[in-house]
Amino acid sequence: MKTSRRLPRWVFVTIAALSNLAWGAPPLDITDQHISDTTNTADWLAYGRNHNEQRFSPLTDINASNVNRLGVAWHLDLPQDVGLVSTPLVIDGVLYFTGTMNVVRAVDARTGNVLWTHDPDVAGAIAGRKQAGWVHNRGLSAYGNKLFAATWDGRLQALDLKTGKLIWSVRTFEVDDPRYITGAPKAFKGKVLIGNGGTETGPSRGYVTAYDTEAGKLAWRFWIVPGNPADGFENDAMKMAAKTWTGDWWRHGGGGNAWHAFTYDAELDTLYIGTGNGSPWNQKVRSPKGGDNLFLCSIVALDPDTGEYRWHYQTTPGETWDYNSNMDIVLADLDIEGKTVKALLHAPKNGFFYVIDRANGKPLSAEKYADVNWASHVDLKSGRPNERAGARYEDGSENIYPSPVGAHSWHAMSFNPLTKLVYLPTIHISSDFADQKYGADWQSVPFDGGTAVDWTMGKDPRPYQGELQAWDPIAGKTVWSVQQKMPWASGTLTTAGDLVLQGDSEGLFNVYNARTGAVLWTWNAGLGISAPPITYKLDGTQYVALLVGFGGGYQANLFPGSEKLGWSYRAQTRRLVTFALDAKGTVPAQHPPMFPAPIFEAGFEINSEQAKIGETLYLQKSCYLCHGGNVVAGGMAPDLRASPVPLSEMEPVFEAVVRKGERVSRAMPAFPDLTDEQLEALRHYIRMKAHNGQ
Ligand code: HEC
Repeated sequence: MKTSRRLPRWVFVTIAALSNLAWGAPPLDITDQHISDTTNTADWLAYGRNHNEQRFSPLTDINASNVNRLGVAWHLDLPQDVGLVSTPLVIDGVLYFTGTMNVVRAVDARTGNVLWTHDPDVAGAIAGRKQAGWVHNRGLSAYGNKLFAATWDGRLQALDLKTGKLIWSVRTFEVDDPRYITGAPKAFKGKVLIGNGGTETGPSRGYVTAYDTEAGKLAWRFWIVPGNPADGFENDAMKMAAKTWTGDWWRHGGGGNAWHAFTYDAELDTLYIGTGNGSPWNQKVRSPKGGDNLFLCSIVALDPDTGEYRWHYQTTPGETWDYNSNMDIVLADLDIEGKTVKALLHAPKNGFFYVIDRANGKPLSAEKYADVNWASHVDLKSGRPNERAGARYEDGSENIYPSPVGAHSWHAMSFNPLTKLVYLPTIHISSDFADQKYGADWQSVPFDGGTAVDWTMGKDPRPYQGELQAWDPIAGKTVWSVQQKMPWASGTLTTAGDLVLQGDSEGLFNVYNARTGAVLWTWNAGLGISAPPITYKLDGTQYVALLVGFGGGYQANLFPGSEKLGWSYRAQTRRLVTFALDAKGTVPAQHPPMFPAPIFEAGFEINSEQAKIGETLYLQKSCYLCHGGNVVAGGMAPDLRASPVPLSEMEPVFEAVVRKGERVSRAMPAFPDLTDEQLEALRHYIRMKAHNGQ
């Protein structure tokens, strides 16, 4: 009788192990240790590279002496994209990034070949919904074997890192809520955190929520401002915060929305969130008898496991200028007076650069890094700013530095532990504030929102509006700086090769000497750059990757500026470009800057009454958020003065686009409530602006 010959079990085990090796690395399992490891140069595992958010790479292959040999290694054209503001991640040889309408792409980090694409169908989710916010997205987070991405309409999604397959998706707010998400989630300790924006798009009460990374189950939520006391407080922190509010603030939401900075401190096991401004901005309306209005404009330290409050530091008590503290939070060890301090670095909109002891939230330094006239200084003992009389526009119109754009916005700063300098993208714009039109009974309405204060761009004496500053956080002063004519340059990257890398809104990608600010190399992208560069090393080659695609709030052109750049909605190609030493690649030439030529419609008689109604609708329905203030576009959407669609002969198309939502998939929302008369009024307003321009 024949006996079957069976192989011993160890043979199968060995074959399985070998095939695993042959067919690819074992499943990815990203941990907090990996994200904290600053020596790993093959990957870029988190938004700010590591949990410390420093955006510092120890790589020296590309350095101050050879950077002039940089060339294009590969590029990927993204013809469907508009604004690109995201920081890519690099994990195990794959580069991940988010594009317009929250499309996530995974590409081979050595070649740019697209491996997979995940389209969360934002258009489908917002169909029929009113619109708020922007289509831009700043990035991703990774943990375990998953990638986390948030969508404009409020979903948080977990994708399989290898395949892009959707593993789970949760709603972080209801689809009819005027909030929106533009930020990157933050993953740590098996949880993933997300907040939202929306203080201007209706009454909004900010919060952040942590979900477990495995199944997307809600772990905890932290409300940033107190709700109506009659409903009871969620926790002691809210009870404490409520003592700093007056009037019936809950009617307005209060605000505080955390739409950007979340930093996990693995050393002190603490989570820091940067909180937003008031909803509405004007404190006289929001909290009529004053008060600090906690936790607006603060760094709030939370227990990462439970979301419980630990400490806070408020940068702008009782804010009334949109001076949120949503800007990035960088962790660094600093030698201060002979002691090593675990510090937190933060440059919020209000123009002061803060160094905070992160063990207890005490400010160690708070110096002006830009023109500031709302406060003379910060008293370090009390931690409070010394405000100047009149700064709250209580005596009528007032010119205030900085403007609501901020002296620094979401564009990331970087910290180099070798030079001990922070590389900070700075904005110099002032604003005239006036609130005579807004009484105590003013009320914002979801989606038609508002700020309860009028603000227009002030006349600025400086011949430049942008500046890259190398800031010494210990001395509290600028060491070198580069003036930039236009504001809104990208975030920065710094390396041990003594380099600082930054793109600007005029389309130049510059590499600077980190110690002196000398320009060492420049590449002209032919399109404004708003996304920060990253770097990684694979197979012995150091790459620098950069998304090119002007974007963010300045592109919306809420006030004049970005239309001067010529970055048109349709003309230039958005792309991902990588560079390496001695690389000889090329990219197709860009369309030259294009400036819209308003169309004059012969025979169109502008009715000034109707044009006035049209103007109100243009503001109320938030057309200006994309098509620009005064109908002058900055590239986020077509310039309507130069568009044929609002012409009389195209009326049915105008109706199909504006009322029926024919272009929702291209981020042009539907406005189903508009009547025929209102559509006509909008056309009169657009024609008036187009004809004035002739
Ligand atoms: C969230 C941003 C956003 C808002 C708000 C918005 N639009 Fe648009 N709009 C767009 C984009 C993007 C396009 C281009 C779509 C495409 O690629 O065809 C567009 C296209 C259009 C067009 C067609 C222009 C052309 O030449 O193709 C018209 C007309 C228009 N919008 C009118 C309006 C009006 C009127 C409002 C306010 C009631 C408004 N839009 C609000 C983003 C927006």
